This record gives sequence, C-alpha cells and structure tokens, in this order.
Amino acid sequence: MTSNLKQMAAEKAVHDFVKDGMTVGLGTGTTAFYAIQAIGKLAQMGFKLVCVATSVHTEKIAKECGLTVVDIDSVESIDVTIDGADEVDPEMQLIKGFGGALLREKIVASVSKTEVIIVDESKLVDKLGSKGALPVEVLQFGHMKTRKALEKQGCTVTLRMHEGKPFVTDGGNYIYDCRFGGIENPFFLETRLNVIPGVIDNGLFLNTANAVVIASADGTVRMM
Ligand code: A5P
Repeated sequence: MTSNLKQMAAEKAVHDFVKDGMTVGLGTGTTAFYAIQAIGKLAQMGFKLVCVATSVHTEKIAKECGLTVVDIDSVESIDVTIDGADEVDPEMQLIKGFGGALLREKIVASVSKTEVIIVDESKLVDKLGSKGALPVEVLQFGHMKTRKALEKQGCTVTLRMHEGKPFVTDGGNYIYDCRFGGIENPFFLETRLNVIPGVIDNGLFLNTANAVVIASADGTVRMM
C-alpha cells in the first residue's frame, strides 16, 4: 500500500515538473526510486534529459533505466530535483537522510532551481524530530568526541550500523542518528550542530523544498 502511494506521488511530480531538455536531480530512497523509473520512461519516449544523482546507488538505478548521468560539476545548475523525505512539517521544513545520502542530497538541492519532495502521508509531522531521529553525518576521525558534543545538544545519539559495522556514507563518513523527541527550533539547532568540529552536515533541510507532493491512502495526491 505504502509503495503504491510512493509511486503515485513520484509519478505526479515527474509529470508536473520534468520537461524536455531539463537537467534533473535524482533523489535517493524508496520513493525517489519510482521517480527515477518515471523519468527513465520519459527518456525512452525521446525527452533529452541530463541527470545528476544524489548517491552511488541512485546513479546505478538511473543508468539501468537508460538515463544519462553526469557529474554535478559538469552542469551549471539543475532545473528540478525530485527527492523523498523522512519528515515534512506544515511549513515544508524537512528531515532527510534515513537512507544515508543527506550530504549529496543537500548539495544537489542547493544548486537546484526547484526542489520537489515526494512523500506518502505517513511522512507528515506537526513537529520535526517527533517521529524519528535526525541523521548527522560526521567525520570518522574523532567521531566519539563528536558524539559527546552531539549529546550535549540534548539528544540520544546512536551510531548507525550496517551488517555489524558502522554504516559508511558515499562520502566515507559515519552517521549518528540523534533522537530529540521533537525539535523546538530547527534553525537554531542546525546552526548549533554545524559548528561542532567533526560534523559534516545534518539532515535538516530548511527552506529547501519548493513543493511537496503528498499521496494519501484515500487515493488522492495533493501538493503543498
Ligand atoms: C536518503 O538519504 C533520504 O534522504 C531519503 O530521501 C529519505 O530517507 C526518504 O526515503 P524513502 O523514500 O525510502 O522513505
């Protein structure tokens, strides 16, 4: 059911936002997967598209769909990026990074003229951080020290693991999942996190989304 909703949101976003000749940013995750497939179909129909991927995994899927994927530094800007999110609040502020691609996702979003977020309604929250943890990407060097500094921000911190070892991002870094139980002031928190030595970036995507496409279990797809 949820995957159906993800597909609905993805296909609506691709239909409404991807035009022939565009440079398109490809998100990462199970919802973005459906967008990549839909964009692949447009390419097969003859759309001339150039794509920038937000992860190694996404690049692989995109190439399998027949899409042309280029290095981000070979394009001036990106016309539209379609990506998923883990939490969306009523002001379209986001938490991303459960899939571990937050750093590349944030860089791609920062050079995208339009950032479209695709979600099923389970991702909607009243307050960021009330459902899940906030992913924070940290340098491997001194990560235990970085962890202590993160804990001082009033959260419970867990090193993300994968198959018994620390999960390593595409950038070669670790992720600490920081559980706040609701973030009162995301803008203030973002600044506090990013001044900690060893923190590379965090999963708060503030004032980043231009549109959010939401699919609901009643079969409707709406846009914020
Ligand atoms: C990847 O790092 C994330 O930011 C994803 O965009 C986010 O976790 C949403 O993923 P799903 O679409 O799989 O829920």
